[in-house]
Amino acid sequence: MAHRILILNGPNLNLLGSREPEVYGTDTLADIVDRLAESAGDRAELRHIQSNNEGELIEAIHDARNWAAGIVFNPGAFTHTSIALRDAVSGVELPVVETHLSNVHAREEFRHKSFLTAVCVGVVAGFGASSYTLALEALIGHLDSL
Ligand code: DQA
Repeated sequence: MAHRILILNGPNLNLLGSREPEVYGTDTLADIVDRLAESAGDRAELRHIQSNNEGELIEAIHDARNWAAGIVFNPGAFTHTSIALRDAVSGVELPVVETHLSNVHAREEFRHKSFLTAVCVGVVAGFGASSYTLALEALIGHLDSL
């Protein structure tokens, strides 16, 4: 049976393609989501949500309880600031894979801290757009093992 998975993207990720391409690459978010659907094949059914608004991201996480088996989540800069998103993730008890295009640990010190990591099943960071594909593979493998 195909796993239902939410691909959730936070602030400024709608600008991928033109946003700091030397850091984030030239793929748009639509390119990334298309590639994810292709690599998932019939193993997963994906829904994608991007929001620049912390409250909308929290609501998307809450709503995922009603339909999703897990979440691939790039919280953008909220990674480093949001206890509310951390509480949403721990509150819904769905497996979440924290995902970053860049290697946040090789960047500015304020990006080294994540409020989310401790409540996620794992983290993928630093592989550009491929971070999402790797995160999806990891989540499908995790769900298959349950
Ligand atoms: C990011 C890393 C964050 O530090 C940054 O604020 C982003 C993108 C990444 O995918 O590398 O917006 O989550």
